[in-house]
Amino acid sequence: MRIGIGYDVHKLVPGRRLVLGGVEIPYEQGLFGHSDADVLVHAVMDALLGAAGLPDIGSLFPDTDVRFEDADSMELLKHVGELLAQNGFEVGNIDSIIIAQKPKMSPYYETMKKNIASVLNVSIESVNIKAKTEEGLGFTGTGLGIAAKAVALVWKLEIRG
Ligand code: CDP
Ligand code: ZN
Repeated sequence: MRIGIGYDVHKLVPGRRLVLGGVEIPYEQGLFGHSDADVLVHAVMDALLGAAGLPDIGSLFPDTDVRFEDADSMELLKHVGELLAQNGFEVGNIDSIIIAQKPKMSPYYETMKKNIASVLNVSIESVNIKAKTEEGLGFTGTGLGIAAKAVALVWKLEIRG
């Protein structure tokens, strides 16, 4: 059994989509980034990669690479899942926190979980998502950006024969 941690931050700006856990959330601002800036999925990917002892998303999907411009982070997550499988790992469970003063995330938890679980081929119970405000403090609390944290547990599959 191995554990990994992931953390990510993106700026909130006008004129961008707000995509979290593969769900487009109606809001007056969106997250800025090279890809779709899905901060939750980025944290989840780094937790999974960290648990497997693999390089982080910055190394795997560099923001200097035009292939990842406006990339769908769910596609990147699929790639991460495949990479783990190729390296003999199975995903145990994922827990995560979105840190955002606004908008309200709870109506979208189930769809986000379903999206992440289906891309990784795990049960929906293996993926947990929570959100917290930051009581108005700091860059998340004042709405300058959104942060996400995730932990993941993976198993190394026994190779028999
Ligand atoms: O009450 P406490 O300070 O522990 O938490 P909070 O940050 O005020 O968040 C209360 C609840 O609102 C959380 O349990 C989340 O489920 C939900 N929440 C949300 O849906 N969207 C956010 N952006 C932040 C919190
Ligand atoms: Zn990111």
